[in-house]
Amino acid sequence: MPLSIIILAAGQGTRMRSSLPKVLQPLAGRPLLGHVLACAHELGADDVCVVYGHGGDAVPQAYPGEPVRWCLQAEQLGTGHAVQQAMPETPDDNMVLVLFGDVPLLTSSTLRRLLSATNVDEMSVLTVDLDDPFGYGRIIRKEGAVERIVEQKDATPEEQAVREINTGVMLCAASELKRWLGDLDNDNAQGEYYLTDVIAMAVAEDITVHGVKADSWTEVMGINDRKQLAEAERALQARLVEDLMAQGVSFADPARVDIRGNLTCGHDVFIDINNVFEGNVTLGDNVTIESNNVFRDSEIGAGSVIHPNCHIEGSSMGVNCEIGPFARLRPGASLSDNVKVGNFVEIKKSTVADGSKVNHLTYIGDAAIGEHVNVGAGTITCNYDGANKHKTEIADGVFIGSGVNLVAPVKVGRNATIGAGSTITKEVPAQELTLERAKQLTVKGWKRPVKKGG
Ligand code: UD1
Ligand code: CA
Repeated sequence: MPLSIIILAAGQGTRMRSSLPKVLQPLAGRPLLGHVLACAHELGADDVCVVYGHGGDAVPQAYPGEPVRWCLQAEQLGTGHAVQQAMPETPDDNMVLVLFGDVPLLTSSTLRRLLSATNVDEMSVLTVDLDDPFGYGRIIRKEGAVERIVEQKDATPEEQAVREINTGVMLCAASELKRWLGDLDNDNAQGEYYLTDVIAMAVAEDITVHGVKADSWTEVMGINDRKQLAEAERALQARLVEDLMAQGVSFADPARVDIRGNLTCGHDVFIDINNVFEGNVTLGDNVTIESNNVFRDSEIGAGSVIHPNCHIEGSSMGVNCEIGPFARLRPGASLSDNVKVGNFVEIKKSTVADGSKVNHLTYIGDAAIGEHVNVGAGTITCNYDGANKHKTEIADGVFIGSGVNLVAPVKVGRNATIGAGSTITKEVPAQELTLERAKQLTVKGWKRPVKKGG
């Protein structure tokens, strides 16, 4: 049977105390809703609908081009009312799976288990056992099957003692759901239309309701405040790091790393403490990442070593490079193989070819550096004239002495040598030594001034 997934995301999330709608709060670098959408797409649903409301168009606007239906729930009158908003366009012969936009850690494998446990004429709810079930809807079973769900505020003391709770995730046939939702009332402690009330309706029609248990609480935890958001962040980080360890990555401390996006690693990668990976980052085989680095959308070639305290963004490098400590690679830094970038070096929108070294206190911007070039300490490409950026081209085998200013646009020919302290404004010929320097002068017998009246 084709599958519709309805994601409830209209709630305000008052307890977040944020101007951002709750489902757009970031978890591991992407909104809560993004995690649920990814899970829905992994299941290969034929139809995905997001019910949004609080925060207005900010929620759909955060996902331009996403292949989903957006359904407005203008007033939040309860979970049953929310699902109802999505039903008119949901095909009658689909199964409907209800997910929550603020339950981001649910895995597609658990949901597959729920789907395969449920026949088309049956219903399922995803449950979990909690040591402290306070606040959640309790699962009331009869002869193994689920009989009904009672909300905390409506539960008797005996019902409150039940530890199995409703995660909110539910699966049933669309045609039946439409009918039941039409019969809901809001005659309860919160004055809301509860989605959970359809379970008793199904039971009254002798429909079997399965209670399928999730593996762990973390998987089904709902995020209502910043404390829970932080707990979910740690739980997700632990999961991401565990997956990478299973793939052959070593971490000095699995608890001291943060992955906010997709980190793809080869084998025998070693990652020391306090590294942050954002966006899409790829580390080749045998890469060593020492402590305290930030990576964003970058690619590190096999065998490369990143020493501590580097900031690497929108950059790529080939094999066996050595970067840092304290290096900054900005967007468009593209290094070939065997390149060395040392401390206090910034490289932006530049290529550095095989075997070249930029080791100390240097700025390289809008430059193309050839192979086996040595850039001396304190060299600056003066790429900006206050209005426009200009290119510096340095051919293979060039040796640049310390403290050189290369005023762009400028070209340096093959195997040229530039003397220390030069300010280069004209093309430098290949093979020759070029320098620009005032003559050194010694004033004989000169005396240092002394303090007056001393
Ligand atoms: C709900 C369940 C409860 C379950 C708990 C798990 C009902 C009646 N109760 O309670 O059994 O234990 O989740 O976390 O279903 N939402 C809308 N529109 C609305 C109301 C809610 O989109 O009008 C969305 C919220 O944004 C949220 C989700 O539905 O993502 C759950 O709503 P919430 O009010 O938090 O329900 P709970 O009281 O937590
Ligand atoms: Ca909730």
